[in-house]
Amino acid sequence: MKFLVIGSGGREHAIIWKLSQSKKIEKIYCAPGNAGIAEQAELVNIKVDDFEALAKFALENKIDYTFVGPEVPLALGITDFFNSKGLKIFGPSKKGAMLEASKTFAKDFMRKYNVPTAEYKTFNEFSAAEKFLKEEWDENKKVVVKADGLAAGKGVIMCRNRAEALEALKEIMQDKSFGSAGDKIIFEQWLEGQETSILVFTDGKHFSIMPAAQDHKRVGDGDTGLNTGGMGAYAPAPVATKELLKKVNEEIMPNIIKGLEKENIDYKGILYIGFMVDNGNPYVLEFNCRFGDPETQVIIPLLKTDLADIVEHTVAGTLDKVNIEWSDKSAVCVVLASGGYPEKYEKNLPISGLNDVKEDEAVIFHAGTKRADDGNILTSGGRVLVLTSVAADIKSAIDKVYKTVPKIKFDKMHYRKDIAQRALQWINKK
Ligand code: AMP
Ligand code: GLY
Repeated sequence: MKFLVIGSGGREHAIIWKLSQSKKIEKIYCAPGNAGIAEQAELVNIKVDDFEALAKFALENKIDYTFVGPEVPLALGITDFFNSKGLKIFGPSKKGAMLEASKTFAKDFMRKYNVPTAEYKTFNEFSAAEKFLKEEWDENKKVVVKADGLAAGKGVIMCRNRAEALEALKEIMQDKSFGSAGDKIIFEQWLEGQETSILVFTDGKHFSIMPAAQDHKRVGDGDTGLNTGGMGAYAPAPVATKELLKKVNEEIMPNIIKGLEKENIDYKGILYIGFMVDNGNPYVLEFNCRFGDPETQVIIPLLKTDLADIVEHTVAGTLDKVNIEWSDKSAVCVVLASGGYPEKYEKNLPISGLNDVKEDEAVIFHAGTKRADDGNILTSGGRVLVLTSVAADIKSAIDKVYKTVPKIKFDKMHYRKDIAQRALQWINKK
């Protein structure tokens, strides 16, 4: 089989690393990819939203399956486009991707199909939203203000009182800080608790859940500083207890599947469910229509089943026919970022030590790298590399990954030192 993977980050490297272990696959292409991906796949210089060129490439090269990494092409309808050309593709339809691309769509879906979520109110107009805050919102009550559309993870503003909410409303709907993502707005009840991400494979009728993961979004230790795309992750997350997983398997996911069927949503791919767990009760904060980054870099190394098999069955609508198995070990990943990230940072800095990391210490997934003409690997993004270690338990995986990280060096490299400490705290509390 031949695969085309779309995307260029650590997530796509993890997907390709796993696909490359499949005996069924003879060739993998990646558009556009990065320097690490180039070790396992042939890079194709086509942008992720150039559907005409991607489909032409897939047809000419007799690609059996295209696997979409990021949300943007899904939200733009790549799946519908490929299907119209008779091409098989792993990823939800445009309507399915709206579960991520429109927060109001997702919230209304949750309300309609009994998926537990924070209370909310949506507005299409600035004046009505402002009136609501001024007249119906308690001056000192906390609220989460969200832009409706895709905003690269930035359109969510946590407000401690009405004044901050009015600021956020202005930023989103008047200043248009997130562009057209701010055409609609949501005010949401501020939930307390711990977050966990539960991802599922689904063909729209059947589903299979993956080990729960936890991301670390803030740039600094102890969850301080600015938000990032994610600075590290671990799986399985102990906050997702047996009871919680049972609830996801027996109530939440069946309700979601019912919704997909009733709404005629063609959904063949991954549904990422971001939960807030408050006193053991899960509330859905958000849906993503794809694998998470860096969650994938800890989930995929625990997957024992051939990913190509899962893709085939998902696309065929026979996900119930594949037995998906997971390792009982734990995985921890640490993101090595460029100095300054998530704000301005330098690029093109040489990276050393990549060959000093042994496979049983950590897998290196490239996120933002490129190969220079002289063969050296250079930094080319904010998140540069992701190191994942797998061990018998979380504590051993943490020790292993942090012993390995110092082998890698580039000027102004920074990373969080406390990835997965929350898991240890949780376990110790019990
Ligand atoms: P979202 O993109 O909707 O998941 O929001 C991004 C982040 O904002 C989440 O991962 C949470 O940390 C936080 N967040 C979003 N909604 C809420 C909420 N209702 N209560 C508390 N925190 C939230
Ligand atoms: N790590 C969060 C995301 O992929 O959306």
